[in-house]
Amino acid sequence: MSETHIPTLDNLSHETRSFAPSAEFVANAIAKPEQYEAAKANRLGYWADQARNTLTWDTDFTETLDWSEAPVAKWFVGGKVNAAYNALDRHVENGLGDRVAIHFEGEPGDTRSYTYAQLTEAVKQAANAFESLGVAKGDRVAVYLPMIPEAVITMLACARIGAIHSVVFGGFSADALRSRVDDAEAKLVVTADGTWRRGKPSSLKPAVDEALAKEGHTVQNVLVVKRNGEDVAWTPLDKWWHEVVETASNEHTAVGHDSEHPLFVLYTSGTTGKPKGIVHTTGGYLTQTAVTHRDTFDLHPESDVFWCTADIGWVTGHSYVTYAPLVNGSTQVMYEGTPDSPHQGRWWEIVQKYGVTILYTAPTAIRTFMKWGRSIPDSFDLSSLRVLGSVGEPINPEAWMWYRDVIGTNNGKNGERKEHPTPIVDTWWQTETGAHMIAPLPGITATKPGSAQVAVPGITVDVVDELGHSVADGEGGFLVIRDPWPAMLRGIWGDMDRYKDTYWSRFEGMYFAGDGAKKDEDGDIWLLGRVDDVMNVSGHRLSTTEIESSLVAHPYVAEAAVVGAKDETTGEAVVAFVILQVEPPEGEDVVATLRNHVGKDIGPIAKPRHIMVVPELPKTRSGKIMRRLLKDVAEGREVGDATTLADNTVMTQIAESMRK
Ligand code: WT7
Repeated sequence: MSETHIPTLDNLSHETRSFAPSAEFVANAIAKPEQYEAAKANRLGYWADQARNTLTWDTDFTETLDWSEAPVAKWFVGGKVNAAYNALDRHVENGLGDRVAIHFEGEPGDTRSYTYAQLTEAVKQAANAFESLGVAKGDRVAVYLPMIPEAVITMLACARIGAIHSVVFGGFSADALRSRVDDAEAKLVVTADGTWRRGKPSSLKPAVDEALAKEGHTVQNVLVVKRNGEDVAWTPLDKWWHEVVETASNEHTAVGHDSEHPLFVLYTSGTTGKPKGIVHTTGGYLTQTAVTHRDTFDLHPESDVFWCTADIGWVTGHSYVTYAPLVNGSTQVMYEGTPDSPHQGRWWEIVQKYGVTILYTAPTAIRTFMKWGRSIPDSFDLSSLRVLGSVGEPINPEAWMWYRDVIGTNNGKNGERKEHPTPIVDTWWQTETGAHMIAPLPGITATKPGSAQVAVPGITVDVVDELGHSVADGEGGFLVIRDPWPAMLRGIWGDMDRYKDTYWSRFEGMYFAGDGAKKDEDGDIWLLGRVDDVMNVSGHRLSTTEIESSLVAHPYVAEAAVVGAKDETTGEAVVAFVILQVEPPEGEDVVATLRNHVGKDIGPIAKPRHIMVVPELPKTRSGKIMRRLLKDVAEGREVGDATTLADNTVMTQIAESMRK
């Protein structure tokens, strides 16, 4: 970490509004205040009860937590459990086979619904097909798919046979895919010809071909789902999904895997250039994702229609699309495309069409809808909604209030408003935590616009100062987690030292999340953003170092520094400062070339919003780039304290070069 300074969001300190749940909501709420007390009195006992009540275990566990080799945790030791059986078969056995598991809405308007019976059958076929391709327990399967049911089917088929899935977001480049395939040593890649984006076909398969073109990889087969029907090149590794999976037997018996058997690896950006493969295991992960899905969203599985808008390429899509909603036997909506295709009311049309009751999305989406104007959602019937969730970045009070006033009080197309707006739950967690850690419970907590507020029952979070001492109410510091939790990461794939170093070395005996936070006068927690070199763009984590490495890999660039600058819609935006080492050819648009280079290297989401060509970069005497000063420039502020610069004329030089 280069510099850790705690960010502040001034507007938050003035926020005093709070909204208690309605009496009716409280009366029907699933989560009870006693859960906090029970968990406080006996934390491990609480989680053991939750694990036994939420999951069907093939073999019961004998020990709730083994922390003897901290920070390596083992939860529900000795237990055996199958994730796919818990998400599927058991619901069918319990007579819920005809309940819809997934309502799929394709971007072009095609739809498919899977009942639990149908989804179970599809997953059994995929499990048989994967096994016939030589995939066995413990093998890794890379998944590079759009938001289509086959993505969920693939993940659950892996879980069923004990193969470890590694989903790579479809927006990542061929290079990013290859480095993840290599790191995890994947045996199988599951992809699609492509998907749809704003009414046009968008391809995926060519990126897989490009990724695997160079030899030296471990992939034996590539399974290709036909989705958009575009022509694709064919390699000797390729097999069509419909020829291999849809013809496979639909009989497959799930066996329990060890509670600590790895369920998946998911790569996320850290403070260095190399993405980390976050490892999650089975029993603890399934328990905490299912419990939080139930409590945070007040889930009534028999009547709710849940819609989490996240892509399966991110942890939100893993925990709250693939696993928790199905483990809880609920009905969910899955949407393939963008919110503005074919019109800016598409999401609200989907809510109206399926009668969505719980909507879980990101502040960046809410701010986009604010920009498009309230008349769009106002023209749909959103009366079915009863809980609204937010995730991915701090939600500013203004967006929170808009979410409540515009979406949460809509009671029909005719402009009727609800008497009691739907509660909003702001959920703080991370790829590493696996499941919600801080979130109000909608039938218990009086919510505050912009605050995630309280740890969920059984989780102990705190805000500490530089020395690791708990700060007083009203003070800010670093967010930590004091005790191991069921859905915690178990390590970084192939690099246990990095795991210990990144999360457990900053503060003795505590998990360091990398976020700044503040306790208000009531002791409620407000998240203030990252304190390390990680940016958050539209709720997606990007590493400054990773983008810097990509820039300096281009022949034009001698040095690069990247910062996240405040952005009205995306939260943060990538801004790069580069020093050139060569005079570019006449007429060359350097900025466009470099932006495209990063897009190709990492993925379109990593493309800098601005690239500024500068003569020098601000550095300390020990050679560290002072990103804080560049951030001031990027956000158009007066440059802060620059006294520790090795060369104090640098900031003037930068200012001059920007005026040109
Ligand atoms: C980082 C984790 C959790 C799934 C999506 C992102 C930020 C996440 C919130 C929130 C304030 C939030 C944090 C965190 N973050 N949710 N409700 N309020 N900040 O997962 O890519 O692992 O990123 O996202 O900075 O550390 P991720």
